[in-house]
Amino acid sequence: MGFLNFFKRNKDSTTTVNEVEEIHVDFHSHLLPGIDDGCSNLEESIENIIELKNQGISKIITTPHIFNQVYPNTPEIIEEKLILLKDKLNELNIEIDINAAAEYYLDEWFCNNFDKIKLLTVGNNHLLVETNYMEKPPFLEQILFDLQTSGYKIIFAHPERYNYLLNDFSLFDRLFDTGILFQCNLLSFAGYYSPQIKKAAMYLLKKRMIHLVGSDIHKIRHTLEISKFKNSHEYKEILKLGMLNNSLL
Ligand SMILES: [Fe+2]
Repeated sequence: MGFLNFFKRNKDSTTTVNEVEEIHVDFHSHLLPGIDDGCSNLEESIENIIELKNQGISKIITTPHIFNQVYPNTPEIIEEKLILLKDKLNELNIEIDINAAAEYYLDEWFCNNFDKIKLLTVGNNHLLVETNYMEKPPFLEQILFDLQTSGYKIIFAHPERYNYLLNDFSLFDRLFDTGILFQCNLLSFAGYYSPQIKKAAMYLLKKRMIHLVGSDIHKIRHTLEISKFKNSHEYKEILKLGMLNNSLL
């Protein structure tokens, strides 16, 4: 009995010594019902939010896709769904600070229209963007520069997931040096998508080239996988690096 208590105490004290700040803010997810490939209905949204709360998340900025050809969402559509979700959370007495922005797909439509439409931003004029997964858009550096000179601070969603970056790690450095923020997905470190994506995520972690982490939750299987991942050695390494999640807003 005493022997077991010794180990328990020792384990607890080790945790205290190495204590690092937990992440309480998540701002990459697809929790609004029925407007992209994320949650299909309010029940799914609620199920995911309860699990996120269990993980210690107290503030969520959810980010539906805005991708003109596939998910032509607008600030009005997003606001309407956010109100529906907030009403349901109130009805169920679930306390969570939740708001919405968007994840913008950088295509030609976006390049031609970003200065004519209202963009939904996170925190202090931060804009979450993604690109095609397979091919590097020829205009990538130009649109990032145009957005920056228009006053936006860019959060580049899951750099570790793009094939064109997996084939050329030096491009990570070039993009990083432009001053954009790298947001890696927790599921990438868990090996959820592929061994290659995990390798790229671990490369960025080792090189300390990560500013933020996100859940990028679409479905409950993602949220449950992240709950498991939060007990891992890799997650502790991410926390030690010190993410901007809690301080960006
Ligand atoms: Fe996403």
